[in-house]
Amino acid sequence: MESLKGKHILITGATGGIGSHTARLLSGSGAKLFLTGRNGVKLQQLASELGISEADSVTCDIAEPEQVALLKERFFAVHPTLDILVNAAGIGIIKTLETMTEAEFLKTLHYNLYGPFLLVKNFLPAMKEVKKGLIINIPGVLGKVPMAGAAAYSASKYGLVGMMQSIREEVKRTDIRITNIFMGGVDSAFWDNIDLRVQREKMIQVEEAARAIWFLCQQPASGVVSEMVLQPFNHQAI
Ligand SMILES: NC(=O)c1ccc[n+]([C@@H]2O[C@H](COP(=O)([O-])OP(=O)(O)OC[C@H]3O[C@@H](n4cnc5c(N)ncnc54)[C@H](OP(=O)(O)O)[C@@H]3O)[C@@H](O)[C@H]2O)c1
Repeated sequence: MESLKGKHILITGATGGIGSHTARLLSGSGAKLFLTGRNGVKLQQLASELGISEADSVTCDIAEPEQVALLKERFFAVHPTLDILVNAAGIGIIKTLETMTEAEFLKTLHYNLYGPFLLVKNFLPAMKEVKKGLIINIPGVLGKVPMAGAAAYSASKYGLVGMMQSIREEVKRTDIRITNIFMGGVDSAFWDNIDLRVQREKMIQVEEAARAIWFLCQQPASGVVSEMVLQPFNHQAI
């Protein structure tokens, strides 16, 4: 395992279940964290809980180009380099084709696919300059296997996987690593507005999801974990 001490890590979706628990875990590792999310109040609360300075937490909608450009500016104003990008931002709209509106379909692609595109477009060049870095995405199992009602969500997450795999080809002569985590259901606010009969108590806990990301962050650069699958014990679909 590689020490995270002094590593510069950007976490998007830090105001969410998986992102906030990842931030909590990584903050104890000596890493230099920079947090972002949309909800300013939640972001500020987390930053003060973890003793993270105002300069190291910035609100940003990752699907807005100007905001991502500003995020990059604010990040590099306080960090010389980006060692690890953990992209834990995203939304879930799970509806059948009949009930899914065009606006919901586009919103899903906008936040789950265009947002990550803007992030890599803005932050990958810094990794390319030093020819190293790690990008962790969370497509979830619905980025690998289909499910009724997940047409928009799976379109965004299969797209994310395809985009990241293509980018991996573009950087294959460097030590830049890209890891996609295919997680099954994680009990977070993600499920609050999803109209499906699910047993949240049987899902992966956010702390476990965060531990998986923490584990990936510590993998030595000599090897690449290109994929990880983490499923609830009684729900192994892959
Ligand atoms: N929960 C699951 O079962 C599960 C399973 C597999 C994969 N995933 C993926 O894991 C990631 C995190 O999910 P979660 O469970 O932690 O969900 P969550 O608790 O609902 O958190 C989602 C996070 O994404 C942020 N976000 C959403 N859209 C954004 C945008 N346009 N710009 C910036 N931030 C945005 C939210 O920010 P604000 O709250 O500040 O708006 C929040 O921090 C998502 O990509 C999700 O698809 C989740």
